Amino acid sequence: MSNILCIGAGYVGGPTMAVIAKNCPHHRVTVVDINEAKIAAWNSDDLPIYEPGLLDIVHAARGRNLFFSNEIDRNIAEADIIFVSVNTPTKHFGQGAGKAADLQYWEKTARQILENSSSSKIVVEKSTLPVRTAEAMERILNSNNRGLHFDVISNPEFLAEGTAIRDMENPDRVLIGGRETESCHIADPATAEIYANWVPRERILTTNLWSSELSKLVANAFLAQRISSINAISALCERTEADVSEVARAIGMDSRIGPKFLRASVGFGGSCFRKDILNLVYLCEYYNLPEVARYWEQVVTMNEYQEKRFVSNMISAMFNSVAGKRVALLGAAFKANTGDTRESPALEVVRELLDEHALVVLSDPYALENARLDLGALADRVIFEPDPYAAANSAHAIAIMTEWADYAALDYKRIFASMVKPAFVFDGRNILDHRALYEIGFNVYAIGKPSLNHFINNGNC
Ligand code: UDX
Ligand code: ADP
Repeated sequence: MSNILCIGAGYVGGPTMAVIAKNCPHHRVTVVDINEAKIAAWNSDDLPIYEPGLLDIVHAARGRNLFFSNEIDRNIAEADIIFVSVNTPTKHFGQGAGKAADLQYWEKTARQILENSSSSKIVVEKSTLPVRTAEAMERILNSNNRGLHFDVISNPEFLAEGTAIRDMENPDRVLIGGRETESCHIADPATAEIYANWVPRERILTTNLWSSELSKLVANAFLAQRISSINAISALCERTEADVSEVARAIGMDSRIGPKFLRASVGFGGSCFRKDILNLVYLCEYYNLPEVARYWEQVVTMNEYQEKRFVSNMISAMFNSVAGKRVALLGAAFKANTGDTRESPALEVVRELLDEHALVVLSDPYALENARLDLGALADRVIFEPDPYAAANSAHAIAIMTEWADYAALDYKRIFASMVKPAFVFDGRNILDHRALYEIGFNVYAIGKPSLNHFINNGNC
């Protein structure tokens, strides 16, 4: 039996350790965090994050071999393997501000591990980190005269929110990067052994540390690049009367391109894509590769353009003004099946609409509390309404911001009847039946498709 510790009980640490505990009943898994309220929530039935399937797994393992605690020092002392999944936000000050990762939480954690250890340990980087962070961490950890040795392993997490449990239970691959030193040949198998309890060996990939750290950034950059690529084409479709869904289908059937991650949308969100790409951009600048930096930076620029374009389209469709008009935004989460609003395009649309003096109503089944926190002072100017029908009541426009399945199944006749006319719908996720909405009487605007509206001189309908 090993004592596995995870420092950081967030979106990554919590679900990852729950799945490890479930599949490794012979190991004791403890998750610690400085945030006492968060640990209390992990110990209750009201978990701090919404993730389908998570509560069942926590129920099965909690108190058996899965523990949540605030006692960081004691748990460090008792641990054999320490996963670190503390946050690494974008730095907002000094050199690299706006792009580089802020590693202060990571460094504090490394020092805390050193202070509280009386035996050698394996330290696993789970948070996304810039390439060569492990080197700095190893130096801090191994700067002791107590004969302690720490191996730093990179084991980036590829789970996506909303499908975290499925992704962890059945991963495409588990990546473990280690140094090619003598002791690391021992450390690598120890981390791999944990995953081998449920992941087929051929999917456990071992690389050198730097490849592993870089692969995480590159995987996210490639995924986001596909979305920005199709979103760029959506703008062209709107000008040419091509339909972006048809284009995506046509190109996705080419097995070299593949069909996934080609859904045009109001933009990508989430804690990783923007942060990791900017991190990659900063690395390229640091290593004096300006052309490479600009290439990847464009993926983020295109995403910002897509969010702004969505609001511009709303304004121009609604007779060039949304001032004083009630606009109901359906969805605050950055994607369906999560309560997470970090970098959510919905919140960017809220900010832009408030700038235009619209009366913004925000609806979501799980994410309103996070949305309120993320909006800060602006939250006072937003109406938060979990019920989509109440949100749409008396609105001039509704806009789909998150692809919650329930939003495709609403009674749109009822919604239309309760709205100010002419009534507008803007589908930022292309999940609605646009022709049916048009026939109800809505003026329909989707991403990358010709509009369907009832105004005269409209060539499209
Ligand atoms: C991502 C990576 O997928 C995951 O491997 C990594 O560990 C963390 O970052 P996540 O951000 O949780 O996961 O969700 P993801 O499914 O990748 O979606 C990110 C954003 O892209 C969402 O806002 C989503 O709505 C958007 N998206 C996704 C699109 O707009 N179109 C698509 O075709 C796919
Ligand atoms: P992620 O999406 O990467 O999991 P989160 O912000 O959800 O990011 O989680 C990171 C967690 O790490 C937070 O709950 C935060 O309180 C915790 N954390 C940050 N610094 C420390 C630290 N020094 N010791 C313990 N926990 C920490």
